[in-house]
Amino acid sequence: MKSVDNFRLRLGKHELVPIVIGGMGVDISAAGLALEGARLGGIGHISDAMVPAVSDTRFQTRFVSEKAKLYKHNAANSDKSSVLFNLERLAEATRNHVGRTMDAKRGSGMIFINCMEKLTMNAPRETLQVRLRTALDVGVDGITLSAGLHLGSFALMADHPRFRDAKLGIIVSSLRALQLFLRKNARLDRLPDYVVVEGPLAGGHLGFGMDWTAYDLRTIVAEIHAYLQAEKLDIPLIPAGGIFTGRDAASYLEAGAAAVQVATRFTVTRECGLPDAVKQEYFNASEDDIEVNLISPTGYPMRMLKGSPAIGAGIRPNCEAYGYLLDGKGSCAYIMAYNREVAAHPGAKRISVPDKTCLCTAMRNFDCWTCGHNTYRLKETSRKLPDGTYELLTAEQVFHDYQFG
Ligand SMILES: Cc1cc2nc3c(=O)[nH]c(=O)nc-3n(C[C@H](O)[C@H](O)[C@H](O)COP(=O)(O)O)c2cc1C
Repeated sequence: MKSVDNFRLRLGKHELVPIVIGGMGVDISAAGLALEGARLGGIGHISDAMVPAVSDTRFQTRFVSEKAKLYKHNAANSDKSSVLFNLERLAEATRNHVGRTMDAKRGSGMIFINCMEKLTMNAPRETLQVRLRTALDVGVDGITLSAGLHLGSFALMADHPRFRDAKLGIIVSSLRALQLFLRKNARLDRLPDYVVVEGPLAGGHLGFGMDWTAYDLRTIVAEIHAYLQAEKLDIPLIPAGGIFTGRDAASYLEAGAAAVQVATRFTVTRECGLPDAVKQEYFNASEDDIEVNLISPTGYPMRMLKGSPAIGAGIRPNCEAYGYLLDGKGSCAYIMAYNREVAAHPGAKRISVPDKTCLCTAMRNFDCWTCGHNTYRLKETSRKLPDGTYELLTAEQVFHDYQFG
């Protein structure tokens, strides 16, 4: 059987190792991890989730505290419609995060940014446009559109000078979603440069309902592959979700995939942005410790460790500082759930909100331990140290294990 290294991903004139490290927000696929993916000749993703907060941590900017101060007067108000992002500040934060990552890039690979439509930021169209265009301005190699159908996202960049030169792709979980995207964008005369097909075993939010067990990545990839062939559309396909070993990856490449997108294996690398203690939680997880639930205010099912501190937490909504999931009318499903619990427990010092979580705060604090289905297998990839913890790996070890293993 061939190994991954027998294959190459061709994107225009670029030839890459066909390994894509998937975007993991918030700052889990940190710049250092993405840069390793590029240095090793593959593709690394940074995430555009909560970039002002990420810029504050990386570059000691003060975007979050300035926004919190500006809107402090609104904190007790459940209507957050006035809590808007300053678009110039958002662009500045994006320039910091993306621009400085691109400046640091070495090697023959590429750095892409994972851009989530569900990050509606109380002005979905305007904020998405700023995030997309600023990333292009500062030289990102490519943009992966994720968490949403993105029917209008190409149009938001269509008059950008880099619209036809940057690599633009989309993540879909069904043929139908891809067909909708292609139909909607036909008039722009610009196909996606690649399509990531994400199956139900992935980490983060899922593009499936709670019936996700009824779906299978290989079947969806085969269906999309057949459709593209029938339509004579030459778009590289990149399966994602549950591809745990070099052998798994090679079997997809042999079946016609152009590359694989992987993430879970990299969550326990030194370069991953998770705190080391959380990486140990991932190592220690058993299959029973992992669940898919509906606590994300986005409405999408999300996979995470059952021990995530975010589950059941009842913190006050923090939209004045963050507000990344506000829907454009000043509302988020967590605010409603929180207010319901407050009303049901008058005078209580602490409340618990079982059905939703304040995802911005939880992700920023690394309290929502989202993970792929195969997280319980991570312990097989490392060894226990005398102090009982697992040894962290390097991104290079994991990358090479996929490439040559
Ligand atoms: C911790 C974690 C966070 C993730 N966050 C995101 C995200 O913010 N946006 C996104 O499109 N995909 C996200 N994903 C999905 C990955 O990019 C990737 O497609 C998928 O997890 C690959 O499957 P694997 O983890 O089994 O290798 C995340 C995955 C993990 C493990």
